[in-house]
Amino acid sequence: MSRIAYVNGRYLQFREAKVHIEDRGYQFADGVYEVCEVRSGRLLDSRRHLERLKRSLDALRIRMPMSATALGVIIREVIARNRIGYGIVYVQIGRGVARRDHAFPRPDVPPSVVVMARRLDPARNEMLAANGIAVVSVPDNRWGRVDIKTVGLLPNVLARQAAIEQGARDAWFIDKEGAITEAASANAWIVTQAGALVTRHADQAILRGITRMVVLDAIKAQGLRIEERAFSLAEAYAAREAFVTSATTIVLPVVRIDGRAIGDGKPGPVATALRREFFRHAEVG
Ligand code: PDD
Repeated sequence: MSRIAYVNGRYLQFREAKVHIEDRGYQFADGVYEVCEVRSGRLLDSRRHLERLKRSLDALRIRMPMSATALGVIIREVIARNRIGYGIVYVQIGRGVARRDHAFPRPDVPPSVVVMARRLDPARNEMLAANGIAVVSVPDNRWGRVDIKTVGLLPNVLARQAAIEQGARDAWFIDKEGAITEAASANAWIVTQAGALVTRHADQAILRGITRMVVLDAIKAQGLRIEERAFSLAEAYAAREAFVTSATTIVLPVVRIDGRAIGDGKPGPVATALRREFFRHAEVG
């Protein structure tokens, strides 16, 4: 079956789905995006993803090109046209097409909108979760506003590539104080020896993950201890468990950091339980 994408008002075959060479998303990474999980053909937590999209656009002073309802209709149409049962949908909104100049276009141009969807293999993801993943630490050399979900992801790309070249799957960013901020495309968590769940407080140095918020709800419902604070690499090495959260991975156990086994080197019971519990707290659209 051929894939269909929405590009600036039209549903197109993938090979025809193209953007202009002077699209500011392409030239300056002047745009934002969202990734939402699809389960049984239905969106997970779309309300919160669209709210975050609006916050990212406001932060960059890009206008929302249509109502959230209209965008929701397009997203669902793309899911339906691609017959996605289990997968992800990707939404990107950029400042638009204009003659190359760093300053905002004057007069204003219409924002660019792209929506595409892709199937994921559920068995492959479950296998990944059952085995856990290895991560490596890398310096966090990103800009100071990574709470805005922009398409400017070069440090994340390089971090992920460095991880793969070292035989790991993901990278954990370390800030100048030696604290872990987050993973290349997920939030980072540990379970301490005392049983507390620790993830960095959501400031401008991490993306406020939607999965992170849902997992926080699941943790509260289970009566487990939460500490939203910075944690060091040494603390992570000594943790009982570690895991990452994102829309594409939900809760994914981390079993090695920089080649050192975390806990007994296998996915831990807290992460495994939270992976299941997540679905009781997520909003199904
Ligand atoms: N990434 N931190 C970063 C840097 C991310 O890119 C992501 C998501 C997250 C987790 O956010 P959420 O729980 O809302 O997915 C944290 C998406 C999945 C991506 O870029 O593909």
